[in-house]
Amino acid sequence: MGISMTPWQRTAHGANLLDTTGQPGVTIFEEITALANEHQAINLGQGFPDTEGPEEIRQIAVDAILSGANQYAPGSGTRQLREAISEHQERFYSLKIDPVSEVVVSTGATEAIAAALLAFIEPDDEVVTFEPFYDSYAAMIGLTEAKHKVVPLHAPTFEPDLDQLRSAVSDQTRIILINNPHNPTGAVFSTDVLNEVIALAHKHDCIIVSDEVYEHLTFGTKHTPIASLPGGFERTITISSAGKSFSFTGWKVGWATGPKDLITALRTVKQFLTYSSGPAFQPAVAQALRLPDTFFQKFAGSLEEGAKSLSAGLEAAGIPVIRPSGTYFLVADINQFKRNDAVQVARMMPEQVGVAAIPLSVFVQPENVRHYQGFLRFAFCKQPQVISAAAKKLQQLPEVLNR
Ligand SMILES: Cc1ncc(COP(=O)(O)O)c(C=O)c1O
Repeated sequence: MGISMTPWQRTAHGANLLDTTGQPGVTIFEEITALANEHQAINLGQGFPDTEGPEEIRQIAVDAILSGANQYAPGSGTRQLREAISEHQERFYSLKIDPVSEVVVSTGATEAIAAALLAFIEPDDEVVTFEPFYDSYAAMIGLTEAKHKVVPLHAPTFEPDLDQLRSAVSDQTRIILINNPHNPTGAVFSTDVLNEVIALAHKHDCIIVSDEVYEHLTFGTKHTPIASLPGGFERTITISSAGKSFSFTGWKVGWATGPKDLITALRTVKQFLTYSSGPAFQPAVAQALRLPDTFFQKFAGSLEEGAKSLSAGLEAAGIPVIRPSGTYFLVADINQFKRNDAVQVARMMPEQVGVAAIPLSVFVQPENVRHYQGFLRFAFCKQPQVISAAAKKLQQLPEVLNR
């Protein structure tokens, strides 16, 4: 299916949402969540934390509403938040960003991704991503009429093969869209991979869009923004958001940083998507970005504990886990079992195991589903007692897998 589809159909097709009759079906996320609710299962399908972000930060948003921050914020974001973003990039990555011309605040990372793609892609351009990929990428690429080329990530490391990366990028490529740390695999890419992306962007004159929403959620390894590597900044739009770093996924405050010409283009498109957003959240996020290092370390540490505890539970049940280096997610490998179709297993789990997970194949192109059908994604951004209750229930999973 290609260009003859209407734009919304291309979007839905890109994200695997069309059924065989061309109608939008229920997403697997909705289906699994409904099953989890029906069977009162522990829902490790969806990636949102079950603990609130810092109270003092929430209080700033409350106070801002009560003291009148209720009308349109400036289109690029408040000066205060843009300065805090710029300081954050220097504090953590030694990147010097001009808060006036090199930062734009967006309605979540999602809007910044959409605006970046809409700003630069012409029909028939190519966009290269890794596969599996975060679902909004394929949906937005579908909307732009670009061709979506993928570079597979291979278990057990989920690192891309550099030769495959080189052969996917060509002079037709307009954007290399990466996500690091990576949802859904939990991988953190090596500097070799990032340097190769930069070299290819220079060679083929393309832009890098780097989605780094999990920048603070790495385990035992430091996040390296691609923009901080030699030759990276000048071609990269870096995107992040307050959702994951501070457990405010519902606030939808995101941002993009990068060289002035790229940010100007993104801002031009963004102003006609939402214009501006969240005036009361912006002072709160500005303060959150200035939280002490101990906050970031403690939060990443607690997620790492969740990852370890869930991995240990799955491994104790005899299910191999690809241990994550970051994010909210880990991948379990059920290939060795009799029943190894993860879509089927994910549908059975809420009732038969009492835990919900998502098949990894929903994050890939329809023609590549078979390469990923033996993997399940579990979210571990949940409280310790929830993770240990899930780990206990998961001891019954092999029985379902061997049936
Ligand atoms: C890789 C990735 N990018 C972007 C987003 C969306 O971020 P936001 O909620 O800030 O729009 C998510 C949320 O799950 C994500 O996993």
